[in-house]
Amino acid sequence: MRIRVPNEVMGEELRVAVVPAVVKKWVAAGHAVEVERGAGLSAMFDDAGYQSAGAELVEVVSGWGGADVVMTIGVPSIERVRTMRAGSVLIGMLRPLDHPEFVRELASTGVTAMAMELVPRITRAQSMDALSSQANLAGYLAVILAAEKLERVFPMMMTAAGTLQPARVFVIGAGVAGLQAIATARRLGAVVSAYDVRPAVKEQVQSVGAKFIELPMDTSGAQDAGGYAREQSAEQQEKQRQLMARVISESDVVITTALIPGKPAPKLIPTEAVKRMARGSVIVDLAAERGGNCELTVPGETVVREGVTIIGARNLAAGVPTHASQVYAANLQKLLEAITDKSGAWKLDPADEITSAMTLTRDGVVVHANLKSILGLS
Ligand code: NAI
Repeated sequence: MRIRVPNEVMGEELRVAVVPAVVKKWVAAGHAVEVERGAGLSAMFDDAGYQSAGAELVEVVSGWGGADVVMTIGVPSIERVRTMRAGSVLIGMLRPLDHPEFVRELASTGVTAMAMELVPRITRAQSMDALSSQANLAGYLAVILAAEKLERVFPMMMTAAGTLQPARVFVIGAGVAGLQAIATARRLGAVVSAYDVRPAVKEQVQSVGAKFIELPMDTSGAQDAGGYAREQSAEQQEKQRQLMARVISESDVVITTALIPGKPAPKLIPTEAVKRMARGSVIVDLAAERGGNCELTVPGETVVREGVTIIGARNLAAGVPTHASQVYAANLQKLLEAITDKSGAWKLDPADEITSAMTLTRDGVVVHANLKSILGLS
């Protein structure tokens, strides 16, 4: 298999899909790996490291026609994808639910496109789960950013000059990012509480040291069969906003991660709630990419509104590109292991749970059931 690793340094993308340690494993397994010059520099992996791991360095301007598989961490331009051979495979964070039209374009190129966001949440695929590996780092970084912006300290400090009270942190949405945010804020000494519409997470919240906020709401249908939250009705959202307003107003830091796959982020923090927070408080909105959980969030920017710093964090995992690339590359390595046989040839069985969940396009058509229905294809 000839594997291509593009140089994706653009905008805020500082990560690289494959790191030298993984190149070494693939080369040992008999694959050929071509890495575009400078691909790993912003993640602190230099060209020499790839070369000594056995990769061949190639120029960015050369097309992707020689590759059997191209591995990316971001969404590549369609122009680049058009340089691929029909039948070759593209694997990356392709954001199909955010840009379904892009999937139609991918189909027209004849490549087999597989989206890392769609790795199913099953035990066998846990080591390939890029959403989790990246969300975990985003949750950590959210707390670090908040601590840096907050005009107070996180831990309780008993000093000769008096006692400083610990920061109160409220985490909304206790999925992968939220749980890591709780654990990180606890490590820094904050008093942490959290809320999620899925009642099943109460125990997990408590196990990482936070208080679970119980809201008097009916959440019996809040979780779907895949373990994700379902979208709430407008009335439910309004009720949640009202019930959470007091906790928000008493918090120094609010970290919000509430997301529903493929939907805009629910607006859970209205302007009124921000007005009630103390001056100098901080909101980190990890849902900014999908419009944000806070009404005043500006995606991609840090703004001060009503005396509160609101961080509209996008692609936060890219803020720790070395580790983000390392874990993503490990996800890809496990995936490649699962979809190739011992001789290194494709084992892309459409009946396989992982392959079918991730494959967007094949042989010139969109094959993913959900995307087909979103795009109105029969
Ligand atoms: P996510 O990033 O889609 O959403 C973040 C969190 O926001 C979720 O916990 C969700 O319940 C919550 N949320 C949605 N609407 C909300 C609202 N209105 N108010 C408060 N919270 C709200 O979720 P993530 O982190 O990707 O995880 C989703 C589920 O998948 C979890 O149950 C997690 O444990 C599970 N999971 C399973 C894996 C596996 O089995 N391999 C791997 C990773 C996660």
